[in-house]
Amino acid sequence: MANISDILDGKMDGKEVEIKGWLVNKRSSGGVQFLMIRDGTGVIQSTVHKDKVEKNVFDDTDKLTQESSLIIKGIANEDKRAPDGYEIKIKDLKVVQLAEEFPIGKKEHGIEFLMEWRHLWLRSPRQIAIMKIRAEVIKACRDFMDDNGFTLTDSPILSGSACEGTSTLFETPYFSKKAYLTQSGQLYVEATIAALKKVYCFGPTFRAEKSKTTRHLTEFWMIEPEVAFADFEDNLKLQEDLVSYIVKKVLEKRKRELGVLGRDIKPLQEVEPPFPRVTYTEVIEMLEKTKFKLEWGNDLGAPHERFVSLKNDKPTFITKYPTKIKAFYMQPDPKNPDVALCADLMAPEGYGEIIGGSQRIHDLKLLEQRIKECELPKKAYEWYLDLRKYGTVPHSGFGMGVERVVLWICKLKHIRECIPFPRTITRLYP
Ligand code: 4AD
Ligand code: MG
Repeated sequence: MANISDILDGKMDGKEVEIKGWLVNKRSSGGVQFLMIRDGTGVIQSTVHKDKVEKNVFDDTDKLTQESSLIIKGIANEDKRAPDGYEIKIKDLKVVQLAEEFPIGKKEHGIEFLMEWRHLWLRSPRQIAIMKIRAEVIKACRDFMDDNGFTLTDSPILSGSACEGTSTLFETPYFSKKAYLTQSGQLYVEATIAALKKVYCFGPTFRAEKSKTTRHLTEFWMIEPEVAFADFEDNLKLQEDLVSYIVKKVLEKRKRELGVLGRDIKPLQEVEPPFPRVTYTEVIEMLEKTKFKLEWGNDLGAPHERFVSLKNDKPTFITKYPTKIKAFYMQPDPKNPDVALCADLMAPEGYGEIIGGSQRIHDLKLLEQRIKECELPKKAYEWYLDLRKYGTVPHSGFGMGVERVVLWICKLKHIRECIPFPRTITRLYP
């Protein structure tokens, strides 16, 4: 069996090939049927000439419907007239299944219709390109971590405590108790750093986001590195290196897919360290002259992030948010405890937050105080407090949302296309 990608790469010229795949579309002209066939590695034009095949092969071809599954045998050849410069001259064709009328046609469909048929919509060239890029982003994340001395320590998905506030927790019965679907694996990687120093977790995370936005899912994938003895500065450096690596790898390996999406790659080529920085306080000052004006102490929303995101060609760090609007575990700045040693990374081109991270509180007393101030149940955090009793060290980490990165790199309008089966407030099917 051959791959269509090998044929399109010119590796099979003149050779007999067997391809197993699906019919994308078909047209006929005179005694020739032109089939576009997809096999998961690419799409290629294949031709059936009435006078060169058995009658039953030509008749079977004639009956083929869009998305029928099939196995073909033929000769691969360079052909300047074919859409990608290569074609297969079919000698034999076996129909695996004659598909029923495909609900997604060539005409424009509304987004609700396409989401209802998401399981079939994934076969379109655009969705295939996005899935390939998503997989490349994830591979780049893992390769970067694994090649830089990090150990993967996965965090549990069922958890007894909140990491990112109680308002977005999904609750589930857990025998005689309650459990929550994890919002972040962070607290657990803060434990494994004392065993392995540089660690990360990578998995699905859940937020009961009650609002409908173009960048929130209720289930999304997050990579969360955590490093012992790393301070605020080290943390930003790691983010710059990781994000730059991911973009470089996608440009290197997925140029064709970016082309399918019509993505202008120039802005992506700009992405390399260092990234510009601006403090939260400076952002508030800059917003003063705009209609998005905000009082110090309020959290930045989508329009504010967009404003910062458009200022630079590269991703931009917004640093040192007010301690009181950020999570309980963030280290207050010793020079000004009203702000935290944290940063959110804004993707450029208007995309906004792709990473949230901080230096963590490593002092037991201070952490106890913050848990109290945030009115969190101390009992659930006993184990987390233990980490501050047995060899505590300054440490930092961050979480990067995979779909947010895909959204930006692919330059899409909505996050629902960045994961094969998106979960949102209104969607649990398919
Ligand atoms: O900023 P967040 O809430 O940070 C944390 O969860 C930290 N505990 C991470 C850490 O330090 N280990 O979320 C981190 C990132 C965001 O920057 C965003 O990319 C993504 O997760 N994210 C979402 N992506 C899609 N849909 C949602 N509802 C998201 N919420 C957060
Ligand atoms: Mg955040």
